[in-house]
Amino acid sequence: MNDKQMVALQAAKYVKSGMLVGLGTGSTANYFIEELARLQREEGLKVTTVASSTISAITAQSLNLPIVALEQISSIDLYVDGADEITPDMTLLKGRGSDLVKEKLLARAASKFIAVADESKLVSHIGQNFVIPIEVIPFAWQLTKKSLEAAGAKGNLRPNAAKDGFWVTSHGSYVLDMTFDRSLDAKTLNDLISNTPGVVEHGIFYGLTDAVFIAANGLVSERWI
Ligand code: A5P
Repeated sequence: MNDKQMVALQAAKYVKSGMLVGLGTGSTANYFIEELARLQREEGLKVTTVASSTISAITAQSLNLPIVALEQISSIDLYVDGADEITPDMTLLKGRGSDLVKEKLLARAASKFIAVADESKLVSHIGQNFVIPIEVIPFAWQLTKKSLEAAGAKGNLRPNAAKDGFWVTSHGSYVLDMTFDRSLDAKTLNDLISNTPGVVEHGIFYGLTDAVFIAANGLVSERWI
């Protein structure tokens, strides 16, 4: 069993029958989804799920997990998702996929949000290893980019895979992948980007995690707020 699978299985221990559970996106979240399906199949677990992305919804459906649409929920019991970066204060960077809006909605709606990752995701500051994804309303992208540049940011629209156009999210946003001065802390960056007109949502998850589970060399450590 690899570290991502191990940490996902640890998070699944917090799932109880009757819960409405948010499903994250990515390889670590996939192990969690697979474990929920196994628990349902082999141990009679009864949960309802809501997915943070189309790909996770398809995975859950293919494994016969009951799933409801985001539109149907007003709160959830537990959300488990991976991350691209995790800082010592449990701020996350997310959104290398294309559904960070749904991910953040579920993180906020959850009574408990557990972030799961292997130790490669630990960083000292947000933006250490990855650019910060910022979803923008398409018609605003140039004005929004200019506002962010005035605050010292650098970057550009995310290209699509074939590099002959721009990436469009599942609900129609463009994505600006930006870097900022590394002296800016997570809260400052979070507030700065959130307050920029044209921004739909961004990948900094500040003050949203209840726990971070990290797996390293076959051992899982849990850190709760
Ligand atoms: C998806 O948009 C991201 O926020 C993922 O949670 C992140 O990329 C984690 O992926 P892995 O679990 O595959 O590392």
